[in-house]
Amino acid sequence: HGRPEVAIAEDVAVETNRGSWAEVTVPGNWTLQGYGAPHYTNVMMPFQDEPPLVPKENPTGIYSREIEIPKDWAGRRVVLHFGGAESVLAVYVNGTFVGVGKDCRLPSEFDITSHVRVGKKNLVCAVVIKWSDASFVEDQDQWWMAGLHREVFVYSTAPVHIADVFAVGDLENNYRDGRLRLTVKIAFGRMAEAGWSVSARLLDPAGKAVFKKPLVAPFSMGGWTGSPHRLEARFEESVKNPSLWSAESPALYKLVLTLRDPQGKPVESTATRIGFRSVEVRDRQLLINGRKVMIHGVNRHDHHHTKGKALDRETMRLDAVTMKQHNFNAVRCSHYPNDPHWLDLCDEIGLYVIDEANLEAHAYYGQLGHESLWAPAFLDRAVRMVERDKNHPSVILWSLGNETGYGANQDGMAGWIRGRDASRPLHYEPGIWTQGLSMEEQPENFIYEGGDHVTDIVCPMYPTLDSLVKWATDKKHPDQRRPLIMCEYSHAMGNSNGGLADYYDLFEKHPGLQGGFIWEWIDHGLLQTGPDGKPFWAYGGDFGDKPNDLNFVCDGLVWPDRTPHPGIQEFRHLAQPIKVTKFDAKNRIATISNRRDFTDSSDVRIAWRLQCEGNTLAKGVLPTVKIAPGESLQVAIPLPKISSHGEVFLDFRYTTTRDSAWCGRAHVLGWDQIPLGGKRTEAAPAVAMRKAAPLELEKTAAGIRVLGTGFDLSFSESTGRLDAFHFDGQNVLISGPALQVWRGATDNDGIKGWSGQDGKPLGRWLKAGLPDATLSPGPVRARREKSGEITVTCSHVLGCKASDKGVVHRHSYRIRTDGSVVVENVFVVDKLLADLPRLGVRLFVAPGFEHLHWLGRGPFDNYSDRQRAAIVDAFSGTVSGQYVPYILPQEHGNRTDTRWLTLDNGSIRLRVSAPGPLEFSASHFTAEDLFAAFHTYDLTPRKETVLNLDFRQRGLGTASCGPDASPAYRIPAGRHEWSYVIAAEKM
Ligand code: GAL
Ligand code: MG
Repeated sequence: HGRPEVAIAEDVAVETNRGSWAEVTVPGNWTLQGYGAPHYTNVMMPFQDEPPLVPKENPTGIYSREIEIPKDWAGRRVVLHFGGAESVLAVYVNGTFVGVGKDCRLPSEFDITSHVRVGKKNLVCAVVIKWSDASFVEDQDQWWMAGLHREVFVYSTAPVHIADVFAVGDLENNYRDGRLRLTVKIAFGRMAEAGWSVSARLLDPAGKAVFKKPLVAPFSMGGWTGSPHRLEARFEESVKNPSLWSAESPALYKLVLTLRDPQGKPVESTATRIGFRSVEVRDRQLLINGRKVMIHGVNRHDHHHTKGKALDRETMRLDAVTMKQHNFNAVRCSHYPNDPHWLDLCDEIGLYVIDEANLEAHAYYGQLGHESLWAPAFLDRAVRMVERDKNHPSVILWSLGNETGYGANQDGMAGWIRGRDASRPLHYEPGIWTQGLSMEEQPENFIYEGGDHVTDIVCPMYPTLDSLVKWATDKKHPDQRRPLIMCEYSHAMGNSNGGLADYYDLFEKHPGLQGGFIWEWIDHGLLQTGPDGKPFWAYGGDFGDKPNDLNFVCDGLVWPDRTPHPGIQEFRHLAQPIKVTKFDAKNRIATISNRRDFTDSSDVRIAWRLQCEGNTLAKGVLPTVKIAPGESLQVAIPLPKISSHGEVFLDFRYTTTRDSAWCGRAHVLGWDQIPLGGKRTEAAPAVAMRKAAPLELEKTAAGIRVLGTGFDLSFSESTGRLDAFHFDGQNVLISGPALQVWRGATDNDGIKGWSGQDGKPLGRWLKAGLPDATLSPGPVRARREKSGEITVTCSHVLGCKASDKGVVHRHSYRIRTDGSVVVENVFVVDKLLADLPRLGVRLFVAPGFEHLHWLGRGPFDNYSDRQRAAIVDAFSGTVSGQYVPYILPQEHGNRTDTRWLTLDNGSIRLRVSAPGPLEFSASHFTAEDLFAAFHTYDLTPRKETVLNLDFRQRGLGTASCGPDASPAYRIPAGRHEWSYVIAAEKM
């Protein structure tokens, strides 16, 4: 229906004939089941109306279902539960209005006892309306969907029933002993009466009873809580030396409660899992169980690529397991209480959670938080979140929401939460800004401070490295209590997470900097079928949704099917629990640090390998070492005498020796590489050097030809470069090295197709006219050297709108008698073209050269500012396998610090090596192909191999939302010299 009022008037009555109604799946979003469509906006509202008004045309779904209430529920209380409805829900039972539910990410429960007929069929109607006043405070950066996306069920209780349980497993005696604080409420549904009691049993993680006898507490009339219909019982008991809950060892206890009537007869029982653990903020630290825990966190939305907001349990488990396997220990439920099963998983598998209220008025930032009209809605979102989730040990912080500014309404939320649950600190990012000013208007020397009432941690989003150092080192700074934990950083959109290691270096250096939460976990692509009949992931605008924010909804570390992006490896390495932090090469002693907080290292297998250019010289496994949490140990590594001439590396690899809830035995926890020196050699393995034979130099109509034994090279006058390379009767190169400065822009360079990108690198490159740059060839000249070698010199000038001499490139080819060619390059980059995407050359290799080998950093993609995890080794793969299918096609597949690489077709091998810097990628797409594509279906692989050889490629940074690549990772103007060797050989 397009109009809720019409829908309700016509269709909720019992008499309506429902025979023709369609079926939809619940839980589910109707927007993904053929009714309407998803709509993506970030900050802006998807419609024009001002709060609290919403469009008259307002998609409305009426769900109806007959339910039979069992006979034995007679005399009992019947409750109807909806886990979540976007955006507002009205419930009717047998045609009678029962109530309304708001806050689409929290359950609404309705007592329908007086509306149902026991033992008979009853008609339940749930009217879900897409837009409501609630939409203005649910303006998170995600798809607008609609429908019942969480579980719906009916349950029954005795009339007098347990209405609430609040169990806190505190710690005492220097974090050794537990203190169980329990508050149980019973509701009578009539005037309360004396004599009721509740008993509690506690089972430890092994299922053994903790107390000899159940604890019993009466509900005394003196324990009056203000309602004549409800009573409260409180009790406390100490628990000696319990297993503590932490993300590393998530020990869960089971609390079983039984309600008894005044005669002592059990009426009902309930159970909840709890943990013993403490959370405190002091001395610029967030302490879990008394220890400062580095937050290796990530933000996560509930998202599924076919089910939208209706996640299945397997997918949630996959998320939790994948996070743990990549060394995450914390997750922020951005930006709303997630599916409740998610918190069960975090309790069980071990993830620290920031639970966040479903409150974001981004389009009305700084406004609604000050308006009393909205105060009840704000408070409600805090209260109901805390009530739903308060017994989860994984929840360590309550968050008041996201991007809504700071006003009295947030103070109200904070005050209520502090009063209700003193066991957890608060988080609220807008609290730390100078109030009344937006983030952009902060004073020059601004340091995060204030907002103590609403946030116990200093939690900026996307701060620069400088501002972190400034906060951490400012001596006069008054805030010596709160730590700084970034609620969002390292925006993972597309090919991203540049500079992550620089953040980690600061965490390790400055007390007070305690990690953060990467933005974000999942690309929110939605699976659709492309024009080629193949599946692809859709983003904003693909459903005809207008206005929209395009692919800004795809900014995760994993694709929508949870396959990790290459960038996740950088994080995994930086956050690894075991690390060689020092190596004394002379005495061969490694300092091994256990960076875990609660667990020793006896479950870790430490293997080492001594390698020279990918060849193993020696290897071994260290005897198991028991390093206490936070401690280091010096261990001698039994290395043999190194006689090798090439570069030598000592690699360490840490694996688990036990199965756990999130990994099997032999799971890789981390790795390190220690360079041990040695000379870099040019040779690739199995190079069959050809016998020296005299070269012939020939002038042809097209240019210059150099002939040797079994090979010839042609340089053309018209293109000014090497244009063909025949070897052993086959053409290896379709075209030779040509200056290349362009790359398929990453989302961080600037989001193509988006306005407002002028200040970004892509904006500058487009303004400079780089995509339309021309390469003007200079003359091709050849000379014979005394040695018998022939040198061919070429030059090109790259001209573009910004500069007609943007880059001058002189390249010479010294052709040796064995057929190898030494290529020497000089680039002179005009000042106006400082900070280019890349500086190097591109070659087109003949089709069929599909096998790739290289010695350099790998195995996964790496860039100058994302290479800490990538070790130097010999790797191999296929050219097709280099493709990284970012949802918005862009630059990928780069490898830095390359010593050599080869491409072969099974009979001939093309080899490139370099004495100095060399970055490369091999692909079936050009930079222009990638830049022109907006979806994966726009790309058709070329038959030939595009070989990009770079003196340097620009770092990645995270400027799609946050700081750009630091200057050290950019390409300055001026003169750059670079050389490499290219050769072909028979296999
Ligand atoms: C933040 C916001 C997130 C998301 C991110 C950009 O400002 O809190 O919800 O929009 O930027 O991807
Ligand atoms: Mg926002």
